[in-house]
Amino acid sequence: MKHVKITDTTFRDAHQSLMATRMRTDSMLPIAEKIDQVGFHSLEVWGGATFDVCIRFLNEDPWERLRQLRRNIKRTSLQMLLRGQNLVGYRNYPDDVVEKFVEKAAANGIDIFRVFDALNDTRNLETAVKAVKKSGKHAQGTVCYTLSPVHTLEHYLGIVRGLVELNCDSICIKDMAGLLSPKDAYELITSFRKESGLPVQLHCHYTSGMALMTYLRACDADVDVLDTAFSSLAGGTSQPPVETIAAALRGTACDPKLNMEMLVEVADYL
Ligand code: CO
Repeated sequence: MKHVKITDTTFRDAHQSLMATRMRTDSMLPIAEKIDQVGFHSLEVWGGATFDVCIRFLNEDPWERLRQLRRNIKRTSLQMLLRGQNLVGYRNYPDDVVEKFVEKAAANGIDIFRVFDALNDTRNLETAVKAVKKSGKHAQGTVCYTLSPVHTLEHYLGIVRGLVELNCDSICIKDMAGLLSPKDAYELITSFRKESGLPVQLHCHYTSGMALMTYLRACDADVDVLDTAFSSLAGGTSQPPVETIAAALRGTACDPKLNMEMLVEVADYL
């Protein structure tokens, strides 16, 4: 077992999963500096649906949101979810648009790009990952997890090899439906690391109620990073609550060593 790092998804996936991504920048900014001091590995604050919801429903500029968050969050890495060739939209875009978008996202404050393709087709990640590497930022390749007769360990390892070929810096197991069992998480994390030699980050949704057990087992497999959200916006179809993980791992070799008092303060605000 080793020290585990934590990514907070509150400003992206948590409110996307629970309330159709409707949190406003004005609600984020007053607590951003405090979240920056908790000791997170990274904060997922951009990408996914945050971009189009800003424009279509909130009358906000998503780029301005990113710049304002970056001004308030100086210590912690900012992370985004990028849909490969689809960027933050719902269709594929030309290569030059992908390259420019990544360049601008990096320039405006994104440090870690989690790049995925809903079909696990690594050809759809190639241009985006290359652009992330060109910008000198962290390119995290993603394996989308589901249960089906074709989704065997061998199948997943083939995708991992594709991500290694793309020169990704780390691998994310994206359990968007909350289907990953503790046993399967242990097997995937162990095999992915052995196959790739790269850090493995686990992203589970709480939908089935398994995710906390899965995270505990992931620690046994020496997972590098776990995705959580503040309890106010955790559980259900969102991520598992950070306070629970921090308390459960306290005093163990995996202890993420987050500032518990600040966790409570932030949760109260949210
Ligand atoms: Co998610």
